[in-house]
Amino acid sequence: MRARRAAVSVLAALVLGATATAAARAQAPLRVASPDGRNSVTVAVKDGGLYYSVDRAGRHIILPSRLGFTFRGAPDLRDSLAIVGVARSSYDTTWTQPWGEVARVRDQHNELRVTVQERASAGRRFVLAVRAFDDGVAFRYELPADGGFGEFAIQDELTEFTLADDGKAWWIPANKPQPDRTEELFASSPVSHVDTVNTPLTIEMQNGTRVVIHEANLVDYANMNLAGRFESRTLRAALAPWADGVKVRGRAPFVTPWRTLQLADRVEDLAPSVLTLKLNPPSRIADTRFIAPMKYDGIWWGMHLNVMTWAEGPKHGATTANTRKYIDFAAANGLKGVLVEGWNLGWNGNWMADRNGFNFTTPVPDYDLAGLAAYAREKGVTLIAHNETAMGVENYERQLDSAFALYERLGIRAIKTGYVNDKTLAGDSHTGQYMVRHFRKVVEVAARHGIMVDVHEPIKDTGERRTWPNMMSREGARGQEYNAWGGEGGNPPEHESILFFTRMLSGPMDFTPGIFDLTLRSAGPARTPEDARPRTTLAKQLALYVVLYSPVQMAADLPENYAGQPAFQFIRDVAVDWDTTRVLAGRIGDFVAVARKTRGKDEWFVGAITDEEARTLPVSLSFLPAGRRYEADVYADGPGASWRDNPTAITISHRVVTSASTLELRLAPGGGQAIRLRPVR
Ligand code: NOJ
Ligand code: CA
Repeated sequence: MRARRAAVSVLAALVLGATATAAARAQAPLRVASPDGRNSVTVAVKDGGLYYSVDRAGRHIILPSRLGFTFRGAPDLRDSLAIVGVARSSYDTTWTQPWGEVARVRDQHNELRVTVQERASAGRRFVLAVRAFDDGVAFRYELPADGGFGEFAIQDELTEFTLADDGKAWWIPANKPQPDRTEELFASSPVSHVDTVNTPLTIEMQNGTRVVIHEANLVDYANMNLAGRFESRTLRAALAPWADGVKVRGRAPFVTPWRTLQLADRVEDLAPSVLTLKLNPPSRIADTRFIAPMKYDGIWWGMHLNVMTWAEGPKHGATTANTRKYIDFAAANGLKGVLVEGWNLGWNGNWMADRNGFNFTTPVPDYDLAGLAAYAREKGVTLIAHNETAMGVENYERQLDSAFALYERLGIRAIKTGYVNDKTLAGDSHTGQYMVRHFRKVVEVAARHGIMVDVHEPIKDTGERRTWPNMMSREGARGQEYNAWGGEGGNPPEHESILFFTRMLSGPMDFTPGIFDLTLRSAGPARTPEDARPRTTLAKQLALYVVLYSPVQMAADLPENYAGQPAFQFIRDVAVDWDTTRVLAGRIGDFVAVARKTRGKDEWFVGAITDEEARTLPVSLSFLPAGRRYEADVYADGPGASWRDNPTAITISHRVVTSASTLELRLAPGGGQAIRLRPVR
């Protein structure tokens, strides 16, 4: 159902030198409001500069903020601008996602297109496209073929975001200490104390509005970070550079990514966040049958615990015998994928330095690639081929076609890629235009070969899964791996209750939950609370499958650590594809409770997590259909449970509930609770 309606199309003043009245009319502020009338964007020219502002329900969100560019080899585009054309339209369409945190997405918005003409000698012309949705607003620059841009090099995008009050921002620093990896701990501060940070940037404004600044449809541009200035409420777009410092190279016609502001009155209304999906083109994959959400296990945690190695040798993880064990375990437990890292040539020695040594088609001698792929297929499981590039991107691109063709022939339907290292050999940023193009290319080539993609050390998610639904999940934050070796002892107990309201608002994350051996005895003597180890209870590890959305979810621990564990039943049962998602309660950095309905099935899951504090959350089950009885399988923190001294105490119980029931979820320090709800037979 597609309905673009051109409501009004006014050309206020066609050319320079129009009559004074027409020009004055054109310079009057232009406003576009969301279908519910609550969100609005105003565009205006003041002293030759182009500005936009955002309001929600009568409150100022973004005060007039500058738009424009500086170029290398061309004059700045920021002064002597005039509005010369206006067009408006409305749009309402709904589609079904092949998979997702919700099955159906409705894109209903009003659009304003403002044509802007430069009065100075360069005489360039562009369009500012603005869309207002009920859940946020977005805008982008469109440079037409005949706008006088030709081939260009953007030195800086001047887009600013001046917050109307000094709200509290939740952020991770950009470019330090690990350039561009986004694997940092979150901090919070007033906007006026923000340095250079990643998006999505979640801000709790003093006026009560929740704002998330991010971007959508990043295709051929540089990743946008946000740069603050001390004691200023203005954040500015900070683009990741090419090796020579240029930010973006292009040729008109050209469109930038959308700059997005998700808006909500309550923090619980931020998720599910689908604004970016609405700003990406529809699927380019006609036959999506090869794409299937799944749970997987893998030869992975053993390396992070240092009881196995990626490299060949006595502790090599990716051996034929070991992989068969993981395939058997997956098949026996309903997991559909097996990740194997260290299966290919390139891991011996210093692989981060020898980044071009990786070979993506040749297995090491003790790994029977073809035999294992066939064995997995027989058992209804796919291998997930690991492609660590170490940022040897040219080396990887040279092999893309042959590698993916081989995987396709062998029935390997998924890959996990990796980009450990900060820059390309040529010195391009991890998230600059060069890498943005690369990440897109991998997804497109994979689609041609019927392969699903999971990216570690990725660029951020800007909604590309709408167009390329084989783009399943990515890392792009500190995941479970830090709990094996993080220098500061691993992720703090509050970490995931921040992730939910920040990183997760951009899209799925391959966090890899499900560690049961929480003191990491598998790696030697039990680790103390001060050592690196998961700082959660067992029930919280289960709850993460529901809280942290991903269409591919790992059962991350060693299979032997699941043996004889009744709690593993939850991992067998939990769904990975959802009809509906509801946030039942939450506070950033403190706690969150989420309910999700399994796609196409009368079944719900609830996941609740807390930070280092114990708390009891009353949760109403009013989301269930009225008048029906459901059996609840409850995995709760056991008596005396705490992440610190007693992480594995868990109580599994069963009870009958209805939509009239309220559950008191008792969460231990660092704890959580996971519940499956299915109709009483
Ligand atoms: C970092 C990834 O996040 C991790 O999952 C992987 O095992 C290592 N790189 C090695 O590629
Ligand atoms: Ca990583």
